[in-house]
Amino acid sequence: MEVIIQKDAETAALLVARLIAKELHLKPHLVLGLATGRTMERAYRWLVKMHKECELDFSLCRTFNLDEYIGLAPANEHSYRHYMNEHLFNKVNIDLRNTQLPNGMAKDLDVECAHYEHLIADCGGIDVQLLGIGVAGHIGFNEPLSALRSRTRPKALTPITLTQNAPMFGGDMRKVPKRAITMGVGTILEAKRLLVLVTGPEKAEIVAKAVEGPITSMVSATALQLHPSCTVVVDEPAASKLEGQEYYRWVFSHEPEWREYREPLIT
Ligand code: F6R
Repeated sequence: MEVIIQKDAETAALLVARLIAKELHLKPHLVLGLATGRTMERAYRWLVKMHKECELDFSLCRTFNLDEYIGLAPANEHSYRHYMNEHLFNKVNIDLRNTQLPNGMAKDLDVECAHYEHLIADCGGIDVQLLGIGVAGHIGFNEPLSALRSRTRPKALTPITLTQNAPMFGGDMRKVPKRAITMGVGTILEAKRLLVLVTGPEKAEIVAKAVEGPITSMVSATALQLHPSCTVVVDEPAASKLEGQEYYRWVFSHEPEWREYREPLIT
């Protein structure tokens, strides 16, 4: 795992967008795993800008989102399908038929989850999975006690997550769906590369646990430590409780693989 500390949320999101753009250039048929939430909005804005101004090409790319609320139709403004269309898909040259999210309206949720796993496998697996971390320590919607080998399945959301996501539902946590379909921790760990973006002071404690704490199913994000190719990009506020900050900064400013990313494109 590498931890890259950037000065603010915008610079952190830009770095993640640049890493995704590089992967897309190297492999136009990239299978990209995507996340939703407020943190990702910035990263998607940068990707849209790169598409418009630098011709970043999504035409051959296929995507799989981590999760979708159960009971929300794709057209519902709170669904993650709607979020993805609004923030990314409708603004770049991706073929919507190549974009997948779990179907939260499926009659048989177990069948839907198995189908989603098959779709991912049929594409040869996910090349790059974008992730955020929730205040409850989740990746996807893998709430506390999610098995470290769990697969795509329905999951009940914790009150912490319902509160975290309430702003997207007019501030009323009672309006947030109580369940979601989510890729499992095991599904996520099978992606070839993980790119994690976490920003803001409210995430400082959970980032420290995820990166430096003991691996436990109580904090699904600690499973990131098991992945052989995981890059965590954080802003200063989110990094503030990391004990190894000095070392992480040294690695980023000295290791050859990060050379092209050291010069910030914005100041
Ligand atoms: C959403 C998802 C979640 C979010 C996490 C952070 O698809 O998978 O794990 O990434 O809850 O959300 P924000 O960015 O809203 O704090």
